[in-house]
Amino acid sequence: MDSSLPLPLPLLAFLAALSLAISLSSAGSTTAAYPSIPGAGADDCSLSGGDGVLIPPRREVHGNGRIFDISHKYVPEMPVFESNDGLGHFLWLQKSMKNGSIANNSEMKIPTHTGTHVDSGFDVDTLDLEVLNGPALLVDVPRDTNITAEVMKSLNIPRGVRRVLFRTLNTDRRLMFQKEFDSSYVGFMVDGAKWLAENTDIKLVGLDYLSVAAYEHLIPSHEAFLEGREIILVESLKLDDVPAGIYSVHCLPLRLVGAEGSPIRCILIK
Ligand SMILES: *[C@@H]1O[C@H](CO)[C@@H](O)[C@H](O)[C@H]1NC(C)=O
Ligand SMILES: *[C@@H]1O[C@H](CO)[C@@H](O)[C@H](O)[C@H]1NC(C)=O
Ligand SMILES: *[C@@H]1O[C@H](CO)[C@@H](O)[C@H](O)[C@H]1NC(C)=O
Repeated sequence: MDSSLPLPLPLLAFLAALSLAISLSSAGSTTAAYPSIPGAGADDCSLSGGDGVLIPPRREVHGNGRIFDISHKYVPEMPVFESNDGLGHFLWLQKSMKNGSIANNSEMKIPTHTGTHVDSGFDVDTLDLEVLNGPALLVDVPRDTNITAEVMKSLNIPRGVRRVLFRTLNTDRRLMFQKEFDSSYVGFMVDGAKWLAENTDIKLVGLDYLSVAAYEHLIPSHEAFLEGREIILVESLKLDDVPAGIYSVHCLPLRLVGAEGSPIRCILIK
């Protein structure tokens, strides 16, 4: 079948709904169907590919500067916890029109804690969408320390603030754009996590690397956050180039019944 023939839209929508059919533009190659995307952080503003085909641009900011995409792109080079190899090949064209199928249809395989994700510690389908959506504060934390009780105190986050995204040295170091896992990332020390749970009204905690808990305090910090079953942790947020301040955050995990984590799409709206 000639791949330039338009597919009827209802069929496309149906296929997308059926199995997360994902269509990416092509340039360079990891496989012919799924190119690696060089400079995953950079904007690709190309409006047309070869053969005069229209390719919509990738964007980090939408709506005339009002809507910030704070989820990372899923690319083979993205880091994975405690691995030097990155995510690797995770997406492939299972059914291809070039191969006689009536439509292109991709499949993927990723750990649930890949890229920007929620770490619920328990059934992700039970998470309260009200906590994941609403007014939020994006704050910069001091760059010379992990997040301790002392640091939490110094941030002076008022009572009543329920959602806070913490931007750290991790963003400056662009750790999410480097394939090798780096255990020296900044995160919450156990006293910082406890202080937050006991002295603030924060129920949504977001951070800019693979874990909200510092590597040194991985388990105890997670426990301090999760034991009350009220605080939701969103990890690996992309907080580059977003001014600190007050936003409306919108985060939606997949309804993966029984999974303790899920990829999550998060945006900030001014
Ligand atoms: C289907 O996949 C092929 C191979 O990647 C691509 O060249 C073609 O443009 C795709 N067609 C549609 C309608 O997605
Ligand atoms: C195309 O079809 C052949 C034969 O069934 C199969 O071996 C091959 O993997 C298919 N390739 C794609 C990209 O679907
Ligand atoms: C944060 O803690 C990690 C260990 O979990 C350590 O390697 C790193 O140097 C600390 N970062 C800062 C800025 O203190």
